[in-house]
Amino acid sequence: ASAATGCPVSANAAAFDPFGDAYQADPPEAVRWSREEEPVFYSPEIGYWVVTRYDDVKAVFRDNILFSPSIALEKITPVSEEATATLAKYGYAMNRTLVNEDEPEHMPRRRALMEPFTPEQLAHHEPMVRKLTREYVDRFVDAGKADLVDEMLWEVPLTVALHFLGVPEEDMETLRKYSIAHTVNTWGRPSPEEQVAVAEAVGRFWQFAGTVVEKLRRDPSGPGWMPFSIRAQREQPEVITDSYLHSIMMAGIVAAHETTANAAANAIKLLLENRTVWEEICADPALIPNAVEECLRHSGSVAAWRRLVTADTTIGGVPIPQGAKLLIVNSSANRDQRHFDNADAVDIRRENASDHLTFGYGSHQCMGKNLARMELQIFLEELTTRLPHLELVPDQEFTYLPNTSFRGPDHLWVQWDPSANPERGDP
Ligand code: HEM
Repeated sequence: ASAATGCPVSANAAAFDPFGDAYQADPPEAVRWSREEEPVFYSPEIGYWVVTRYDDVKAVFRDNILFSPSIALEKITPVSEEATATLAKYGYAMNRTLVNEDEPEHMPRRRALMEPFTPEQLAHHEPMVRKLTREYVDRFVDAGKADLVDEMLWEVPLTVALHFLGVPEEDMETLRKYSIAHTVNTWGRPSPEEQVAVAEAVGRFWQFAGTVVEKLRRDPSGPGWMPFSIRAQREQPEVITDSYLHSIMMAGIVAAHETTANAAANAIKLLLENRTVWEEICADPALIPNAVEECLRHSGSVAAWRRLVTADTTIGGVPIPQGAKLLIVNSSANRDQRHFDNADAVDIRRENASDHLTFGYGSHQCMGKNLARMELQIFLEELTTRLPHLELVPDQEFTYLPNTSFRGPDHLWVQWDPSANPERGDP
């Protein structure tokens, strides 16, 4: 189309709007045309080049020098002066964490901070995750109806994150309150008035995160990623700086919380929409780990990620200039027929399900992926055991917080007959 009209931007590319209804409803579906016809295109609406095929998205993730992650957390909607002033009032200085750090700084930090994420270390958290999950299910198991997001999926991953980070119990409630505004601040399109309110919350979150770090610094002997990082700072002060500790205290909560809450809501929704699959995992829980991978592939919670092009290059044969910003639509890559047979189908026995790019790929790949997997598996184990007769409340409309990257339904209403709960007959 572009060649025919002489216009450098095709009609589809010109119409692309990641804040519009189509993308918000179903990102991979909204860019199906692109996967098929124009896999790398410039979007004038957002000023980004958009990449939608599996091989191209993976190639971008793979090269973190040519494709810098430095813009991963940049605000996609420019911040108003008033909101900037509000953030300044709180001394807000979140800058580089891990996810948006370039080399050579990134790798030494990632290595220094990795140990708490190893499977052996994560195993210590399993009983805590299981106990929390059971407690939340206890609260509604006899009710017959629940919004799983409000009553379980939002809070459990946040509390797990706070435990994983080693936040003192008495500070958890405050951090829980503050952590919520951050998504809108970074990936959303808030109005000017909203921006100031959001900036207030983010500023307080930042300040409070600082006081928690100071508290932990006085006695960093406890368990958790933050005390571990404070101890690591003593060994390598030039690798793990003070401002860096402050940033990961806040960013760690965000990274671990909404991504996992959304992934869980997407997974349960998808499985209940595909009832035979749900029934299969109820009958055979050994299917759960691969079902989790398939859910992350088909309906992951990170729909798109960002990179900055550091030198003139080509992606999928398309010339891209230095300085270009990329929106790499990993949710679209995950539905690419070129990599996944029958890519739109939910197949919990799919052999290459874990090739999905929902956790990114390469040197920045999600450090928390195995913690997230553990949580998702435990949620499914507990729900399929205790509420196998769960079903979606029919005809509900699913709504999504408008943003480019984080994706999960605001609410997920389910219903069941409590008198048929399997645990009743077998206390
Ligand atoms: C990085 C997704 C859960 C901690 C990332 C990235 C993605 C992602 C897309 C960027 C990858 C890249 O640039 O290649 C997810 C999803 C999750 C999840 C979908 C849940 C289903 C978690 C959890 C934690 C965590 C539970 C922490 C406990 C991190 C960290 C990084 C990261 C520290 C930065 C790694 C680096 O840049 O070296 N995650 N994440 N994530 N994630 Fe996650």
